[in-house]
Amino acid sequence: MIVTRPPMGWNSWNTFEENISDQLIRETADIMVSTGLRDAGYDYLVIDDCWSLRERGADGRIVPNPEKFPNGMKSVADYVHSKGLKFGMYSCAGGLTCASYPGSFDHEFLDADTFASWGVDFLKYDYCFHSPIMEGKVLYRRMGTALENCGRDILFSACTWGADHSEDWIKETSASMWRSTNDIHDDWEVVKSLIRQQFPLIPYQSQGCFNDMDMLVVGLHGNGGENIGSGMTDLEYRTHFSIWCLFASPLFIGCDIRNMSEATKEILLNKELIAINQDPASRQLIHLKQDFRLDAEAFARPLANGDIAIGMVNLNDHKSRSVIGLDQFGLNPGTGKTLLMHNVWTGEDIKVKNGVFVRSLEAHDCEIWRGKVVDI
Ligand code: GLA
Repeated sequence: MIVTRPPMGWNSWNTFEENISDQLIRETADIMVSTGLRDAGYDYLVIDDCWSLRERGADGRIVPNPEKFPNGMKSVADYVHSKGLKFGMYSCAGGLTCASYPGSFDHEFLDADTFASWGVDFLKYDYCFHSPIMEGKVLYRRMGTALENCGRDILFSACTWGADHSEDWIKETSASMWRSTNDIHDDWEVVKSLIRQQFPLIPYQSQGCFNDMDMLVVGLHGNGGENIGSGMTDLEYRTHFSIWCLFASPLFIGCDIRNMSEATKEILLNKELIAINQDPASRQLIHLKQDFRLDAEAFARPLANGDIAIGMVNLNDHKSRSVIGLDQFGLNPGTGKTLLMHNVWTGEDIKVKNGVFVRSLEAHDCEIWRGKVVDI
């Protein structure tokens, strides 16, 4: 399966962990449509860990837990499809999943066949309890080969957490996205560490196999699963979402979308940011040089229509400035060209003078601009 844009959707883990059910999935599917999330691009609905019984059935196949899913998985998939959505499930390269349910090790072709028979469109494939004597690349290649040959397009989402230098081999498998970070928490310090963990992996981000910075915690406000964190402010959620969009990470919502605040909806449905995330060129992000060590971070990404997406991000706990020299894009004043900047959160438009754009940002704040090349 060939994937050219970062996949988008919803995943059950961050909020519900093992408290998943047929009813929750159907209600979530309904809300993905009625809130406009589906039409904004969030079209995969993914059930994470804890959906099965603890033992495989007599025929060797994984059995959905009949208390959680009394109608079976095909029925859930049919409902999800009837809403114009795609259906995702979860398994693991180990003998057990991270929550100790059966994993797919040594059952890869059988499980791929089962998922295909249920109408699954997406498989998140975790890395817990994997064999200590077989290399991860072989385990992921095996499931990749099984999915490519199961008779159905199933997007392979490798969840290796960036372990074992997976950036070096993940594209040898048939994965269309790979987890390039540790698990996210609903906690600013963790989100900040994931952003920093991503810096050396920027050159690996590409069309066909996207670096996945983990699911969004936007809107959790401390109401997520056990130990996932005590919450962030809406300003921090906005920064988190902005970075995931700018870095072209897959966007999987993790909050209970049945109870979203207006602020959460506004963040998740920002069309201009989603357009930057989904830009058809998926070009490599530029980590821009700053004047001083204490300055805020700045990033840019050349977009398919010639515009330049620019993010100025203050990860510091104090007010900091961020500086963009247009010479970093070849736009020295001598060219007679500059950027007309459009702020995708506030709508503000500013023409850059003298080849330098300087902004002062509050702690944890960020500004995302879309710059258009114009005459000075
Ligand atoms: C791992 C993954 C998480 C989630 C849990 C489920 O920690 O990284 O995203 O899938 O397992 O147990």
